[in-house]
Amino acid sequence: MAEHERDVVSPEADLDERAIEGALRPRRLEDFVGQERVREQLSLVLRSAQRRGRAPDHILMSGPPGLGKTTLAMIIAAELGAPLRITSGPAIERSGDLAAVLSTLQEGEVLFLDEIHRMARPAEEMLYVAMEDYRVDVIVGKGPGATAIPLDIAPFTLVGATTRAGLLPAPLRDRFGFVAHMDFYRPEELRRIIDRSAGLLGAPLEEDAAVEIARRSRGTPRIANRLLRRVRDYAEVRGDGRLTLEVARAALSLYEVDEEGLDRLDRAVLHALLRRFRGGPVGLSTLAVSVGEEPETVEVVAEPFLVRSGFIARTPRGRVATPEAWAHMGLTPPPDAAFGAAALFDDPEGETGG
Ligand SMILES: Nc1ncnc2c1ncn2[C@@H]1O[C@H](COP(=O)(O)OP(=O)(O)OP(=O)(O)O)[C@@H](O)[C@H]1O
Ligand SMILES: [Mg+2]
Repeated sequence: MAEHERDVVSPEADLDERAIEGALRPRRLEDFVGQERVREQLSLVLRSAQRRGRAPDHILMSGPPGLGKTTLAMIIAAELGAPLRITSGPAIERSGDLAAVLSTLQEGEVLFLDEIHRMARPAEEMLYVAMEDYRVDVIVGKGPGATAIPLDIAPFTLVGATTRAGLLPAPLRDRFGFVAHMDFYRPEELRRIIDRSAGLLGAPLEEDAAVEIARRSRGTPRIANRLLRRVRDYAEVRGDGRLTLEVARAALSLYEVDEEGLDRLDRAVLHALLRRFRGGPVGLSTLAVSVGEEPETVEVVAEPFLVRSGFIARTPRGRVATPEAWAHMGLTPPPDAAFGAAALFDDPEGETGG
């Protein structure tokens, strides 16, 4: 994990970067670029709640790292003019941790629970009740003599975020009135984000440079902002400060961002899949071991974009490389691998789909 976190195109951010990101975060829904559908749906949910003078339905946001989940949570609170409390799944180790948060919420407060899939199981049960009935059952005493004392809590809105929606138990998922699926951004949307950030940073960015950075940003605003900063650094040190296409290209190649925006982990995964497993099919954990990563890292960080870009397909028998993957890595598929890929697309039974 540590190795690729330093990568310039890793979708995950470290602490320093999170501080910088704060300055670039859009504060209102109207400044939030892209994700049209999510934005429109969300705006309806928020406006109708405001009209009724009630806390809106609980909101779940799911999607890969760096697509704007935390940003949206903050925007939700801002749009509602409500206070925001931030916590995360890993911080809630016991149900008592959650009770402490829930029982001190103010009316209408937005509770942002990041990485909600990593919350302790007993706390989940408590959360169900809180979400549904605005109540927590505080357990007093131990053993057979323990009693549950119901405690009313203020109506609040839970905003949950997860990179792994599949891990949420159904009862929890069902208690969200609105689920926002965040998808990778189109280059045109990323270009707008980059333009906006360049304005905030006071960086003289030329249009074709913006397009180039957007194209290589792996569909991810976090990466777009990061590449923009690297290009700006390069322009200041090696150029005259202007962010031109030439400067952008030179900087991006210095930082080993490839034409498709794939990072070292993406390429390592593709490389293993093609060279070691002859294009697959191969199981995710086997693939992860062969690149020295946790299966979760490969599944959350690398795979979604590789699938989205059409380099990897998921089949019931495992991950399979597509012809595009072979071409992108400059390799020729062996005949049997070509079969695997072909079977994937001409499967009349639909057995290997999905
Ligand atoms: N739609 C957007 N418009 C403009 N900037 C955005 C947008 N989405 C994200 N960003 C920028 O990208 C950065 C990362 O976004 P954010 O922290 O919200 O991602 P995240 O989904 O919460 O990631 P993680 O899963 O790692 O917590 C922020 O600095 C934010 O400014
Ligand atoms: Mg976040």
